[in-house]
Amino acid sequence: MKEPPGFLAACRCLPVTSTPIWIMRQAGRYLPEYRAVRSRATFLELCKNPELAANVTLQPVKVLGVDAAILFSDILVPVEAMGVKLDFTPGPVLERPVRSRQAIDALTIPDIEEKLPFVLETIRILRRELTGTPLIGFCGAPFTLACYLVEGQGSRNFAACKKMMFSEPKLFHVLMEKLTTMSIRYLNAQIQAGVEAVQIFDSWGGILAPADYREFVIPHIRRLIRGLDRGGVPVILFVKGCGGLLDLIRDSGADVIGLDWMVSLAWARYLLGPKIAVQGNLDPAVLLAPKSRIEAAVRRILEENGGRPGHIFNLGHGILPSTPVDNVRFLVETVHRLNCC
Ligand code: CP3
Repeated sequence: MKEPPGFLAACRCLPVTSTPIWIMRQAGRYLPEYRAVRSRATFLELCKNPELAANVTLQPVKVLGVDAAILFSDILVPVEAMGVKLDFTPGPVLERPVRSRQAIDALTIPDIEEKLPFVLETIRILRRELTGTPLIGFCGAPFTLACYLVEGQGSRNFAACKKMMFSEPKLFHVLMEKLTTMSIRYLNAQIQAGVEAVQIFDSWGGILAPADYREFVIPHIRRLIRGLDRGGVPVILFVKGCGGLLDLIRDSGADVIGLDWMVSLAWARYLLGPKIAVQGNLDPAVLLAPKSRIEAAVRRILEENGGRPGHIFNLGHGILPSTPVDNVRFLVETVHRLNCC
């Protein structure tokens, strides 16, 4: 049996008896239990109902035996509390894009207790129900939130967002500052309600040149992390497309860096040094393959880590809806079974 605090110990680069694992988007459509709850409510209704949100948060802990739970919500939920109406189809669609000074000024920085009480109530329920399994809270990184706000929906290249960033840099920084201030309050409220780690999702950071990431994004991420009343709560920063940004991300103040699968874990550890933990980085599509392939991929990642403390196993991005649950269970068992080196 592994010790219960394996995940939190690994976040702090402390030794653990086996590699802890959780999975991005672990509560989601690949799980029949999730689809059953979801068939009776919209996604946003689920997010806003603390009993249902807590229920689906717990599903992967019970079904898969993962070593951490992540709050069921979405990175865009607090954006709605800033005054922009939101729908999911299934990706986020905003009532109107935020592209002008007036639209940015109209965004409010919400009082979290007042506008997002359901998130805090979900956390309180989960802390009562999760015995020994740590709970991760999260927010979207300011750049990823800005991508959706300026574009009004998902996009392949977020051209409207980049257009504002490059042509009206001061205005773009005003938007980023507002999103950062909101995120500091949002994560601090989650920490106060009881989350034991937080993850910042910069899902679109990798679409920027390193020089632009340094100029437009890193100062805000650093302020976000500095603004947290952490009291020992580790901060995980996940940047999709982090490969060319690792030297910048290293100095963000995060304790753990989430890696996608386009960068080798060994190389990332070399660049980040021994004091920063890493999380990742299996290609989610490997879970669509036979178990022999899954096991080989897990072995390769554990070997790349080389037995160093400070590795949390995860996918390099969210799990795909077509993933067989049996393969996910096999992944969790395999990571726990293989004690590398
Ligand atoms: O990881 C978890 O289990 C916790 C819950 C969680 C969700 N979204 C639930 C969700 C978390 C942490 C997120 C984060 C999120 N949301 C990100 C960052 C991580 C990433 O994937 O890059 C982003 C970019 C979003 C925005 C978003 N929400 C998109 C693009 C989509 C549609 C894509 C898809 O998977 O369909 C969503 C919808 C969403 N968020 C679903 C879930 C379970 C599917 C909703 C449904 O049931 O219809």
